[in-house]
Amino acid sequence: MYRTNSRLVANLEDVEVVQCERGKGYGRRLLLKLVSYLQAYAQVHGESIELKFTSRPSRVKANHLYRSLGFQLAATATPGGTNLYKMTISP
Ligand SMILES: CC(C)(COP(=O)(O)OP(=O)(O)OC[C@H]1O[C@@H](n2cnc3c(N)ncnc32)[C@H](O)[C@@H]1OP(=O)(O)O)[C@@H](O)C(=O)NCCC(=O)NCCS
Repeated sequence: MYRTNSRLVANLEDVEVVQCERGKGYGRRLLLKLVSYLQAYAQVHGESIELKFTSRPSRVKANHLYRSLGFQLAATATPGGTNLYKMTISP
């Protein structure tokens, strides 16, 4: 997490579940826990947090998971690039 002049930003990197445990709901639970932690943090500190991260379009399962959790696709990847996702978490 870091602070800019105008807001608090949380940057998510390298979400990964060990291969033999995939498809059992850990990825979804992990992200729900993260959102719930940030909601609590936003409430305690009385300010919104912008959660953001990227994902290559070829990571079909990951992109499906992010969208199903309500993350907004803020920018679609250019060829060879990554999708940008954002979620604003308010107090
Ligand atoms: C993306 C990742 C973190 C998801 O974690 P996970 O624990 O496997 O995911 P979950 O079991 O919580 O399932 C999440 C969604 O993916 C779907 N999914 C999981 N495994 C799947 C499979 N083998 N085939 C199709 N869909 C699958 C589930 O159906 C679920 O969607 P739903 O709830 O709408 O049905 C995991 O697959 C992973 O580590 N992938 C490799 C690394 C990666 O791509 N990381 C993302 C970097 S941006």
